[in-house]
Amino acid sequence: DYAGSGYAHSKAILLGEHSVVYGAPAIAIPVEALGVQAWVNPRAEGLYLESDLYTGDQCDTEHQTGPVRAAVAAALEATGQPGAGLSVRLHSTIPFARGLGSSAAVGAAIGRAIGSMAGRTLDPEQLNTIIQAAETVAHGKPSGLDARTVVADSPIRFQSGEVSAISVGGEFDFVIADTGVTGSTAEAVDSVRVQREAERGRVEGILAQLAEHADAAVADLASGAKSALGEKMSTVHGLLASIRVSSPLLDSLVAEANAAGALGAKLTGGGLGGCIMALASSGAHAQQIRDALYRAGAVHTWHTKVVP
Ligand code: MEV
Repeated sequence: DYAGSGYAHSKAILLGEHSVVYGAPAIAIPVEALGVQAWVNPRAEGLYLESDLYTGDQCDTEHQTGPVRAAVAAALEATGQPGAGLSVRLHSTIPFARGLGSSAAVGAAIGRAIGSMAGRTLDPEQLNTIIQAAETVAHGKPSGLDARTVVADSPIRFQSGEVSAISVGGEFDFVIADTGVTGSTAEAVDSVRVQREAERGRVEGILAQLAEHADAAVADLASGAKSALGEKMSTVHGLLASIRVSSPLLDSLVAEANAAGALGAKLTGGGLGGCIMALASSGAHAQQIRDALYRAGAVHTWHTKVVP
């Protein structure tokens, strides 16, 4: 029996990862198939955490408790009970550190659970502050894209903190496939920063192209232009690889998805591990792409749709 509970879903970045950090537009979609459930109870003092999030050999103490503690502190503050004791139970189906927004969803689920315990619904800006507190501990300097997408109920366009819902003019069937390898977003973002300092002209040119593709793809979603969107995804994978945030495993899953007839495929999120995202031509085709990706060594695959 719990005094409060909250849920948040996962996310995938369709276009604009990394360039979004430099103020460029990005498009991200909610992924309803995966999420985090949080339950909370008052407690005399301190934080007691029970979590199935970070189990196994990829367990990391800092990551396990850092974002959770930050979200709890921010949510207790927002609900007028700073420093109160709390017991938190988390259950997540989002694989950790694979670019699917696990840390942001943890922050959102905890914010909602503590809000419900306090008998109130936090407004979107309060909730965003709580999620960003978790994100900042997890990633350093998050753009804020993940925080907005894990609470969105449709695809969003995000730029410099501004969010707008995107209108969708057709059914888009995406396949997400997990390499099973964790990728540090902080490390990937830092590597792009270092490359940009060393080779300003080259890297700024690539970031500008990433920005253009994300911006132009808004119209593809609105008009249901699947082939055009798929082409942009494939081009963007090459651009991301050229700023060295891909990996041989990500490249090989992208190639497998293309061999299985995907309209386009790319890494999604920070990279250096994590997941790819492919566009299928139908729901049945998405299943074929999933099968091909499992045969190629993906540890998990999901089919997620974007509909009008
Ligand atoms: C992380 O999901 C996406 C990045 O663009 C970083 C960020 O937006 O903060 C790589």
